[in-house]
Amino acid sequence: MANRIFAEDILQGKIAFVTGGGTGITGGVARAFARHGAKLAITSRKIESLKAMKELIENEDGSECIAVAGDVRDFTDVQNAIARTAEHYGSIDIVVNGAAGNFLCAANELSANGFGTVIDIDTKGTFNVCRAACEDLKKSRCQIINISATLHYLATPMQIHVSAAKAGVDAITRNLSVEWGRLGIRVNGIAPGPIEDTEGMKRLLPEALKDKITKRIPLGRFGKIKDIENAALFLASDAASYINGVTLVVDGGQWLQGTSLG
Ligand code: COA
Repeated sequence: MANRIFAEDILQGKIAFVTGGGTGITGGVARAFARHGAKLAITSRKIESLKAMKELIENEDGSECIAVAGDVRDFTDVQNAIARTAEHYGSIDIVVNGAAGNFLCAANELSANGFGTVIDIDTKGTFNVCRAACEDLKKSRCQIINISATLHYLATPMQIHVSAAKAGVDAITRNLSVEWGRLGIRVNGIAPGPIEDTEGMKRLLPEALKDKITKRIPLGRFGKIKDIENAALFLASDAASYINGVTLVVDGGQWLQGTSLG
């Protein structure tokens, strides 16, 4: 059932391709899109989580979903996933780039390959998917939503790799909004702050620090996956039809307070 904030049919007939769609924030976005009329294609490296998400979307959200395993770092995998989606549904209207790698590591302990791996997944992966989907998106004159972060607005210790990678994602969002806006494709981003009901946050944030950090978030709470779902629904809908090149921060005001999570 839709959440009643938005009309149930705001994405009726749209085809959404979601990377990292098996779990976490982007899994939530995929389900929210499904509950509001979209048909889904989800991709990630892990076929088990994709299968579980496909079942949820089909059995609980009442939509259709295809699951295609692939690694966003591999352009051939990405081209294959996009081609299968376009072949199955006939078009692609919305692309959500959510596949991401993350772990805590001090800069002086991080290996060159560790840094490069996160850049490859987040930044190169986002470009690969946008590039591979461009022709289909041109036909449908629809949009891209890139999931970013607020880590790089100031400096976040132990997160140099993710900060650099998401700064690159924001650059992709801005550049493509200008180049591809002219093709009728809107390109926007969402920068979630600390979202509590995700595996990533459980892994990255020691439980002992949670209360302390909660007090420093201006809205007095951690975000929930639902907060990002609602931002994505808004950006994907016609209500945002003149919004292009924006990365919408959804963090309760946390980064402006200058509080790092470390
Ligand atoms: N601390 C330091 N370095 C790490 C690390 C950690 N916790 N995890 C991975 N690395 C380094 C590895 O040591 C390796 O570098 P090396 O060859 O110099 O040793 C490099 O990163 C690649 O790691 P590997 O495990 O071979 O790559 P992978 O492609 O299988 O997985 C990640 C990489 C980043 C996806 C995986 O480690 C990870 O963290 N997954 C979690 C995904 C996640 O949290 N997603 C939600 C994002 S919010």
